[in-house]
Amino acid sequence: MESKLKEFQKKLQAIGQSHLLHFFDSLEPSLQKRLLGQVEGLDFAHLPVWVDRYVKNESPVAVPTAFEPAPSYPAVPRDAGQRQQYDQAVRLGQSLIREGKVAAFVVAGGQGTRLGFDGPKGNFPISPIKKKTLFQLFAESLLAASKKYNTTIPWYIMTSPLNHQATVEIFESAGYFGLDKKDVFLFQQGTMPNFDFDGTILLADKDTLASSPDGHGGSLKALYKSGAIADMRRRGVEYISYWQVDNPLVRTIDPLFIGLHVQDRSEMSSKALLKADPLEKVGNFCLVDGKVTVIEYSDLPDEQALRRNPDGSLVFELGSIGIHLIDVAFVDKLNRGDDFALPFHRAVKKIPHIDAAGHPVEPTEPNGIKLETFVFDALPMAAHSMILETVRAEEFAPVKNASGADSPEVTHRMMIERAARWLEQAGVKVPRKADGSPDCVLEIAPSFALCAEDIRDKVERIPEIRPGQTLYLE
Ligand code: UD1
Repeated sequence: MESKLKEFQKKLQAIGQSHLLHFFDSLEPSLQKRLLGQVEGLDFAHLPVWVDRYVKNESPVAVPTAFEPAPSYPAVPRDAGQRQQYDQAVRLGQSLIREGKVAAFVVAGGQGTRLGFDGPKGNFPISPIKKKTLFQLFAESLLAASKKYNTTIPWYIMTSPLNHQATVEIFESAGYFGLDKKDVFLFQQGTMPNFDFDGTILLADKDTLASSPDGHGGSLKALYKSGAIADMRRRGVEYISYWQVDNPLVRTIDPLFIGLHVQDRSEMSSKALLKADPLEKVGNFCLVDGKVTVIEYSDLPDEQALRRNPDGSLVFELGSIGIHLIDVAFVDKLNRGDDFALPFHRAVKKIPHIDAAGHPVEPTEPNGIKLETFVFDALPMAAHSMILETVRAEEFAPVKNASGADSPEVTHRMMIERAARWLEQAGVKVPRKADGSPDCVLEIAPSFALCAEDIRDKVERIPEIRPGQTLYLE
């Protein structure tokens, strides 16, 4: 340990962070080891550049000045030719799923701070009647899709050091929700140290650096480092279906999206929504130098966000919802490159830490910087990138806030509303109130239907729905 200590003292001194070992001598050997382990994990080669570029620089990510709207496939085909293309894409997607070429991947490393929920967000109970958790809904949906296509869809789940152990325990105690444990691959994303405004790394305690998960962009490295990509290769998986943990309406495995992605020879594709209003807080799909790029709502000037076409539609109308299809070969290629790095986004935060005397400081005002990468920043690195529009009511009802927009209450309503619509599309009568909302509580288990079409041949199993009734279909 002595020689290691000397080595790191020297290295830290060279980058102006020697204070990190200030309390080293006062620690017990096991804690000394722990601290050295964390110091060893620092990226000494890049830290000084990152500090200059992202921590000290208040507007680190250059916002492009020349950009135009990105082209997309509409949610509903425009004409007969496109209808034919979509039908072919669905058939292609279905055969790729059947051949075991598609894996599922959810990013679940974030903290549900805004939701005010303790523990991994995937454990949040959300279904209207059975109160199934997000994780359970995804698991059931993957079980149902595996059955439907007579295959095994492996599931990769990215956690962070903040919630990894708790997530593993949830899966263990739930018996992996009926999935085979060997087809569920849980791995952790990386972390980034937290800095004060001068670029000094903060200590959370005498033996611990202050740090936080490196953002969902970290998934592209973590997939590789964890061995998930190698595992996919072994299984013959070529495409990754990526989504965020907070959206129970997501179509975890979507043949149309997969088929269009492959037809288009896209390396990384995205689903998009027509924004609910010009300033909706979602990333905007744009073309910059001919490359699909997401410009965060906070970076898109209002006069651009408000621009309209002659027909009244927004010029920048496509919002990002964190749903992607990614080629396994693309992730491989990025990581094999010399120096693959996504740009960091800088967030000014209140970061608890200890001061130079070792006393704990609980800041009341923002006192430092956290750095995160975003997965959509990899889109311009793709040789080609496709966008498919989707319909909000069908695929997007994230649980983010305790109340108001994107709250469990809204998500519930949208889940019941979607179930009602699917039933009506199959010819089932659903009682509705005077305001048009369903006069019943409905929950459709993924085992019963993964999409509206799945209901058509099950209609005779559905009882008459009376006003005020609660009906669970599985
Ligand atoms: C995100 C998108 C926004 C999009 C919205 C859709 C960003 C910057 N913004 O916003 O454009 O419209 O989702 O719902 O992404 N995560 C990790 N590790 C991390 C950080 C996050 O796994 O280090 C995961 C979270 O668990 C979650 C997802 O990434 O599944 C999204 O993170 P969150 O911070 O909730 O993003 P939003 O701000 O809601």
